[in-house]
Amino acid sequence: MSFETVFAPGRVNLIGDHTDYTGGLALPMAIDLGTTIEFERGGDLVELVSEIEPVRARVSIDVGDPAAVRPDWARFVAGVVAEVRPSSGLRGIVMTDLPVGGGLSSSASFTVAVSLALGGPRDPMTLAMACQRAEQRATGVPCGLMDQIAVASSVAGHALFIDFLANAWSPVPLPESLAVHVIHSGVPRRLESSAYAKRREECQVAARSVGPLRAAEPSDLQAIADPVVRRRARHVISENARVRFMVHALRTADLTAAGALLRQSHRSLRDDFEVSIPELDDLVERLTKTPGVYGARLTGAGFGGCVVAFADPEADLATFGGWRVTPSPGALISPPAGSSAS
Ligand code: GLA
Repeated sequence: MSFETVFAPGRVNLIGDHTDYTGGLALPMAIDLGTTIEFERGGDLVELVSEIEPVRARVSIDVGDPAAVRPDWARFVAGVVAEVRPSSGLRGIVMTDLPVGGGLSSSASFTVAVSLALGGPRDPMTLAMACQRAEQRATGVPCGLMDQIAVASSVAGHALFIDFLANAWSPVPLPESLAVHVIHSGVPRRLESSAYAKRREECQVAARSVGPLRAAEPSDLQAIADPVVRRRARHVISENARVRFMVHALRTADLTAAGALLRQSHRSLRDDFEVSIPELDDLVERLTKTPGVYGARLTGAGFGGCVVAFADPEADLATFGGWRVTPSPGALISPPAGSSAS
């Protein structure tokens, strides 16, 4: 018997939330927390135990409907099996240091790791789309593609500027004078019971009035009669612009401008897109009052989970708990030569 290991990181989205499923822009980066699977191949079951799940996942390689599989976490395994259709199974153990439901893509990290263990696609877009479909089939949540692309294709020391219209991405170097922190609100979230699908629908309604939101201008907003839908569209249009400004701010190491963009993004997600909660607002407020912090915002889908903060490397954020995260390589990207990571 020979054991193999795969690893897929989580990600933090620096800016550009609820834009991916409208053909917009986002700027995530993979982080140094993620999912490891140690496994041996064989049999016709995919059988996984997890450090954080009481009941093991046992999925036949010819599984039918992934959504019907139990326990809950096994639906993700089944979703990937249904996409990859491996010719043989495996037995393994899952280890993760990502908070589940924390907005750090624990599920994309897990599905990408399972796909790699099962010999799934190595082409980044094919892998990302297979894992997106796996998650959608497992949970019914119409998630976008940001998490899977960031988890697969991020580059060490960089964020990934992703254009979801072209489905293309390019790495943006992060200044050395920037420390990225991720802090959990303590409120876990499940996208299935959230308004995620509703927000996606509202964006589609907006696009019926003004055309694709990616091409829309703020002056188009007056054509949207429903004030709620108008606010949703205003978030998406302004967030796409903020992603471009952020790329410029990071390239020029203008961290004051970068911090202001984080704060604007949070306000937009809170007031226009309405995906924040008081615990996230409170964290963002306390962080932005902390010496050495440039700005903070909720990250990912919202409804709970984490905030991301930009800080001076000397800033002391110990009282917030959380992690200072390193921009890390995606699961398909080899670590730089000389790195000890395997
Ligand atoms: C979740 C989804 C992503 C994206 C974000 C919000 O993480 O999986 O596709 O829509 O929410 O930006």
